[in-house]
Amino acid sequence: MSLNYKSYWRKTGLKGKWGNIFLKRLSNHNPKNVLEIGVFCGVTARNTCDFLNKINGKNFSYIGVDLFGGYQNEHKDEIEPTFLKNQKFSNPLKNIYYNYILKENLNSIKSVSKLLRNYTDNIKLIAGDTNKILKELDLQNIDFTFLDGGHSYQTVINDLTVLYKSMKDKKKVILCDDYGKESYIPEVEKAINDFAKKNNLKLNLIENRFVEIIT
Ligand SMILES: C[S@@+](CC[C@H](N)C(=O)[O-])C[C@H]1O[C@@H](n2cnc3c(N)ncnc32)[C@H](O)[C@@H]1O
Repeated sequence: MSLNYKSYWRKTGLKGKWGNIFLKRLSNHNPKNVLEIGVFCGVTARNTCDFLNKINGKNFSYIGVDLFGGYQNEHKDEIEPTFLKNQKFSNPLKNIYYNYILKENLNSIKSVSKLLRNYTDNIKLIAGDTNKILKELDLQNIDFTFLDGGHSYQTVINDLTVLYKSMKDKKKVILCDDYGKESYIPEVEKAINDFAKKNNLKLNLIENRFVEIIT
């Protein structure tokens, strides 16, 4: 199947070749139920739903969790994409279109729901800090998680701990961003290494950026 990650004229964490590298991970594992932690403007969400729809028809689910403009609970050391502060675009046309014509905050449930409108029956978007809300979600059926939310040490440890509790021994996939040299966040790398060591998990480095854990 040809993989073609589209940007939908929005911002994405997976620019250039990275979008298709992400889709390749999905196509390697062919999941039905996907969780994304850190939805941002929903571009990866939309590409994920497009892909899941292609391989599963209507029989898939996507759950996306993000602060969506809300406040973090406990951790003030989070590394926030600069774009989120006041929705600054380097492209002036996008600035006019989103900030003055539509007056739309791309990192909002409203805006992401609009982007995912073809899939309303399959998706759930949840606003909140994963340090608080992840443990309250039913994650038993998740086949594939893209972990790309809060990037502090404590948040990554929290998220991995909660995910692993539901996914352990099921041969499911946790794909983590910002681990390797190509998009390196030292706290993320350290948290993942510590978690993997403690739980005796193998880390599969993907293109010097992502790391994949099979539970
Ligand atoms: C790098 S962006 C995600 C990019 C997205 N996965 C993509 O492919 O376009 C990180 C997102 O995580 C969210 N975030 C940061 N800390 C969070 C937390 N503690 N709980 C939930 N979401 C968080 C931010 O609001 C931001 O939208």
